[in-house]
Amino acid sequence: MKIAILGAAGGIGQALGLLLKTQLPAGSELSLYDIAPLTPGVAVDLSHIPTAVKVTGFSGEDPSLALKNADIVLISAGVARKPGMARADLFNVNAGIVKNLVASCADTCPKALIGIITNPVNATVPIAAGVLKDMGVYDSARLFGVTTLDIIRSNTFVAETKGLNPEDFEVPVIGGHSGITILPLLSQSGCEFTEEETAALTTRIQNAGTEVVEAKAGGGSATLSMGYAGARFCLSLVRALNGEDNVIECTYIEGPGDKARFFAQPVLLGKGGVEKVLDYGDLTAFEGAGLNGALDTLNSDISSGELFK
Ligand SMILES: NC(=O)c1ccc[n+]([C@@H]2O[C@H](COP(=O)([O-])OP(=O)(O)OC[C@H]3O[C@@H](n4cnc5c(N)ncnc54)[C@H](O)[C@@H]3O)[C@@H](O)[C@H]2O)c1
Repeated sequence: MKIAILGAAGGIGQALGLLLKTQLPAGSELSLYDIAPLTPGVAVDLSHIPTAVKVTGFSGEDPSLALKNADIVLISAGVARKPGMARADLFNVNAGIVKNLVASCADTCPKALIGIITNPVNATVPIAAGVLKDMGVYDSARLFGVTTLDIIRSNTFVAETKGLNPEDFEVPVIGGHSGITILPLLSQSGCEFTEEETAALTTRIQNAGTEVVEAKAGGGSATLSMGYAGARFCLSLVRALNGEDNVIECTYIEGPGDKARFFAQPVLLGKGGVEKVLDYGDLTAFEGAGLNGALDTLNSDISSGELFK
């Protein structure tokens, strides 16, 4: 199994590389690419960790060497938020970066599973789908927006509220990956909440990225928790590709399209990527209102990605 990280010298990329070097199955290969010249050095650094995962690193303008024979590509290349910025403010810079990198994937590893981390995910995934489609290799089962950070944040905050162990929770989060489009289904967390708790937790989960951006005071956005989330998502893809049954993750994909063309929801992963889009169950009145209130924003984010050329 070969996993490529594009944006591998960045805050997320380095954390993700470290976790994958220590957690991928023995015999895997980790391929790092970034325009930053330090990338081969990041690979040398990681290669001194004693696990049976081979690490190579590439920098410069051409990602193709890093992508050769990749089974999974994770893209975190691009700029991150500073205080006062919304994810949508990153669109102008990151849209072009994602477009070019996905075009390289289409050329070099058209069958790879591609996980997009670069924000704004609501729009960068439609951009990636458009590029793959134009190049004749789009398969909606193989393209994912990585929204796992919303799930792990929900698990943490629910557990904090109840004074319980976060590892015992798995809160589904549907919709998209910014502001009000992030819809945690707290009613499926296994805990009872008052209306006030539900409202406060939902708002905190939706603003959790901004909580980190403000706490880092200009130094960037979530990198370590995102590295953890990205590694969890990647390891789920690896398990599914290796034939493990019942691997389920919430992720932003092109699904049945009843709410929006791209939508985050639980999916069953298999050897070809998305094996089955799963039902996210009944919503409470609060969750249903949240979903209805988010759809205009989500659909407009999707359109901005679809219209980007
Ligand atoms: N999906 C999520 O939940 C989530 C969470 C946090 C951050 N993000 C997003 O992830 C992205 C990366 O964040 P970060 O904190 O790692 O940023 P960062 O600035 O630390 O790293 C980005 C890296 O991308 C590289 N890069 C830029 N253009 C490139 C190109 N054309 N080809 C290859 N590499 C290129 C840079 O050299 C840098 O090393 C941002 O867009 C951020 O908003 C997503």
